Amino acid sequence: MTTAYDEPAPATVPIDACILTTDRLVLRPLTLDEATAAHGPFHKAKSVVKYLRWEVRDHDGETDGRITKRLAGSTISRPGDGFVWAVEFKQADGSQGGEIGDVSLFAKSIRNAQFEIGWVFHPAIHGRGLATEATTAVIDLAFDQLGAHRVFAELDSRNEASARLCEILGMRQEALLKDREIVDGEWHDIAIYAVTASEWSERKARG
Ligand SMILES: CC(C)(COP(=O)(O)OP(=O)(O)OC[C@H]1O[C@@H](n2cnc3c(N)ncnc32)[C@H](O)[C@@H]1OP(=O)(O)O)[C@@H](O)C(=O)NCCC(=O)NCCS
Repeated sequence: MTTAYDEPAPATVPIDACILTTDRLVLRPLTLDEATAAHGPFHKAKSVVKYLRWEVRDHDGETDGRITKRLAGSTISRPGDGFVWAVEFKQADGSQGGEIGDVSLFAKSIRNAQFEIGWVFHPAIHGRGLATEATTAVIDLAFDQLGAHRVFAELDSRNEASARLCEILGMRQEALLKDREIVDGEWHDIAIYAVTASEWSERKARG
C-alpha cells in the first residue's frame, strides 16, 4: 500500500530527450567548457548579472561545486539534481549557432515534486519572445516528463523583466520576502512566483 508520504520514483530522462526544440530555438545540455568561468561572456555583463542571485554576480569564476551542478544529469533522484540548457537559434543546416542564453531547472524536493527554474539571456536578443519560448519548453518537460507538481522561480523583486516573464508563463506571485538577502551591503526583497501542474495544463488547454 502506498501512502501520501512515500517517495515518488526518481524520474530518469534519456539525455536525448533533454534536447528540446521550439519554433526558433534548440535547447541542449550545457557542456563542461560552457559551465566554466569562460562560459558565455554575456553572463558577465553588468546588466545581465544585476539581479542574479548567485556568485557569478561577483564577476568571479564559479566554484567547482556550482560548475558540477550546472552540468546536465539525466536522473532526478535527489534535491539539487537538474539540468542546465544552453539555448541557441535553430540552424537550417543543423550546425550550432552559438549560445544566446541558458535555462536551468533543479529539483528542490523530490517527495513534493518541487522544481526551481532560472534563466539568463543575451541582452542583444531581449524583447523578442525568445526567453518565453525557451522557458515554456522547459516547463513542459518539467510537468510532462519529470513529474513536477509545482515549478517556481525566485527573483529579486526589482527584476521587472523576469517578473513579466513569470506572468506571461502563467506563474502567480506567491510571496514577497522582505530583506531576504544581503548583496554588497544592501538588503534585497525576493519575490516567489510559481505555477502548478494543473494550472499549467489548464493554461495549455486554453491555448
Ligand atoms: C528576464 C529575461 C530572461 C527576459 O528575456 P527576454 O528575451 O527579454 O524575454 P521575452 O522577449 O520572452 O519577453 C518577456 C517579457 O518581458 C518583458 N521585458 C523584457 N525586458 C523588460 C524590462 N527591462 N522591463 C520590463 N519588462 C521587460 C518583455 O517586453 C516581455 O513582455 P511582453 O510580451 O508583455 O512585452 C532577460 O531580461 C534576462 O536575461 N535578464 C537578466 C538575467 C536575469 O535577471 N535572470 C533572472 C534571474 S531570477
